[in-house]
Order: sequence, then structure tokens, then C-alpha cells
Amino acid sequence: MLKKFFNHKAYTYVILMMTFVLSYEGFSQTKYKAFHPGELWLDDQGDHINAHGGGILYHKGTYYWFGENKGKDSNNAFVGIMCYSSKDLYNWKREAVALPVSTDPDSEITAGSIMERPKVIYNKKTKKFVMWFHLELKGQGYAAARTGVAVSDKPGGPYEYKKSYRPNAGQWPENFQEEWKDRPATTEADWWTEPWRKEVKEGLFVRRDFEKGQMSRDMTLFVDDDGKAYHIHSAEENLTLHISELSDDYLSFTGRYITLAPGGHNEAPAIFKQDGVYYLITSGCTGWDPNAARSFKSNSMWGPWEYLGNPAQGEHANLTFYSQSTYILPVHGKKNAYIYMGDRWRPKDPIDGRYIWLPVFLEHDKPVIKWFDEWDLSIFDQQMH
Ligand code: GAL
Repeated sequence: MLKKFFNHKAYTYVILMMTFVLSYEGFSQTKYKAFHPGELWLDDQGDHINAHGGGILYHKGTYYWFGENKGKDSNNAFVGIMCYSSKDLYNWKREAVALPVSTDPDSEITAGSIMERPKVIYNKKTKKFVMWFHLELKGQGYAAARTGVAVSDKPGGPYEYKKSYRPNAGQWPENFQEEWKDRPATTEADWWTEPWRKEVKEGLFVRRDFEKGQMSRDMTLFVDDDGKAYHIHSAEENLTLHISELSDDYLSFTGRYITLAPGGHNEAPAIFKQDGVYYLITSGCTGWDPNAARSFKSNSMWGPWEYLGNPAQGEHANLTFYSQSTYILPVHGKKNAYIYMGDRWRPKDPIDGRYIWLPVFLEHDKPVIKWFDEWDLSIFDQQMH
């Protein structure tokens, strides 16, 4: 019987089947062993990853990448927030649409709204996954300037949309001077003139938005070692960053916040903490076009934040290698290993936007980002810390 089974024909058949299965696997799943910044990055189905303006959650051995699904012609949300998962950071499996747009035209997240820069954090107390993202209401351009929140029991979703709003209504920033509070909320000065800049630095737009809540556009989240979470966002017409504390369940704002670099025009905040020091990387404000990144550091989330200049070094550093920051990813299990995640936007073909992932190292206590055509995580083992 055994002899019969292993006759020549059957043997050939088994080999053929195995070859087919193996080559099919190889075809459907590109096995990356390195990062190739700026190149097409294929998911497990062979499609370019569609998770722009993204952020990453690490949970129980798996990384979850959340980002904006973009189409061919529009940057607006017609699908929703995507989720991909990976064990090794090179190879990504398309999970699902974690937060789909709504088909209800009255929903705040109806198809055609703008849903940008989603970030997800895990709340150890409530065991919930909490997503915040920049939301612009359909048909209003970027005027709404809201932050939206959604929640899930599972990292990959589906996320249940809760609400959106402008945070910190009726609250003054902690670092706001007493004498600025009673000044008028309007100015005679023309935009971009020196007197106007001075007014902005002294809280013109904080006063203007005091009752209805502060604007919230480009944003990121950060969970500190003590479990406190922070929402960092461009406010005051993108002129000033606000760092706001989230409530213990991460679902709302406590009302405690500070302004960072008033009038400094910072967008695209991304943050990491090394050896007890917080480092923030941002961009200037030139829409989809790249500009020179900036960086800051502080010993406390509440400041004072010190300006450190452009962290990018080398050719094309003045345009941050044609990218804009979105997140800084701590690599799990490696000490002082952080990845700068940036977007190379393609506004004329948004789905083709590229991902620029590069290692971030501290040099003389300043973050430094250098270009590599190709690199892998072993770079973090070679560094002397
Ligand atoms: C960028 C911002 C993006 C998007 C874009 C729209 O400055 O970082 O997230 O909002 O403007 O023009």
C-alpha cells in the first residue's frame, strides 16, 4: 500500500502541489525585511498601504497602524479610518475599516467629511481602545476644526463613534497671563503684521474661542508612564499648539491645558519620551507641501518647551525629505528605539501618498533624523547609548 502511494506519479503530484502552495504564499504576501522610505509599501493583499496621517498602537505583541483611507481624486473621507496589523513592522496585514464613514447624511462622520490623523490609545483601567482624530464637517472645508472620539473593545475595531467638538470651552490655558484674560477678542491690526503677531502671542484667538472651545486640527496622542494621556493639537488658526490633558477614561478633556510656541505656526505634532525627557517634532504650515520640520524638548508635558530647530539632517533636510511628521513610534523591546513616521502627500493622487519611516536618534540631547534608502531595525542595536 505504502509502496503504491509513493509511486512516481503520486510523488510528483505532491511536489507540484507544494510548489504551488508555496509560490502562491510568496505571491500574496511580500516578505519585507527592511524599510524603503518613499517607495510603494504593499500590504498582505499586494495593495499599497492606505493609512495616511497614521499612528500606531502596540498591543500584546502586535502593532496596529491606523490611518486615513484616501481615494484617487479626493482627500476627503469616503471609506473611513483603516487598520493594518504587523508583528515585525515591515509586513502589514490589512485588517478592516476600523471606523467607517456613515451613510447617514446627518452624521458628523458622513461620507465626504474630512477625517484625518487618527491615533489610538489603550486605557488599562477601562480596557477600551480609544481613537481620536481630526474631524471636519462635510461641506465646511477646514472651518469646523474639531476633534472626534470613537471607542472599541478590540484593537482592530470596529470603533463606535461617540462625538466631536472643540475642546476646553470656558477654560484658560495654565500658562496664560492674568492680564491677557480681559483684553478684547478682536484686533484692529491686520493679519501677519507685527502688532497682530504680538496679539496672537498674547492670546487673541484663545479669547476669541474661549466660549465655544478651542480649535483642534492636526493632532496626536501620548500616554505617559503614569497612565495620563494627552491630546496635542494645532489650535488658534494653526498658529499655536495646545497640549491638553485627557480624562482618566481618555474619552474627554479635563480642561487642563497649555499653549506651546504661541504664534509659532506648528502642525503635524509627533512626540516621544526618552530618559524622562519629552521630545516633540512638528512641521510648519504649508498644507500638503513639505517644509522644514521643527523640534522641541521639555522635562514636563506642562513645559517650558525649548525650541531645538530642524531635526532633519543631510540632503533635502530643509523639506524633511519631502515629508510631514505624523507619529513617532517606540519600537517594542528595544531601548531608545524610535521611528519617525511622516507622510509624503500626493494631493493630486492622494491614494499614492508615500510613507517616510526613518530612525530618530538623540545627538547632544536633540532629535536627529537622517535619510536611508533602506534600513532595518538592527540599526538600533548598532547605536551606542
Ligand atoms: C496639512 C495637514 C494635513 C491636512 C492638510 C490639508 O497642513 O498637516 O493633515 O490637514 O494640511 O491641506
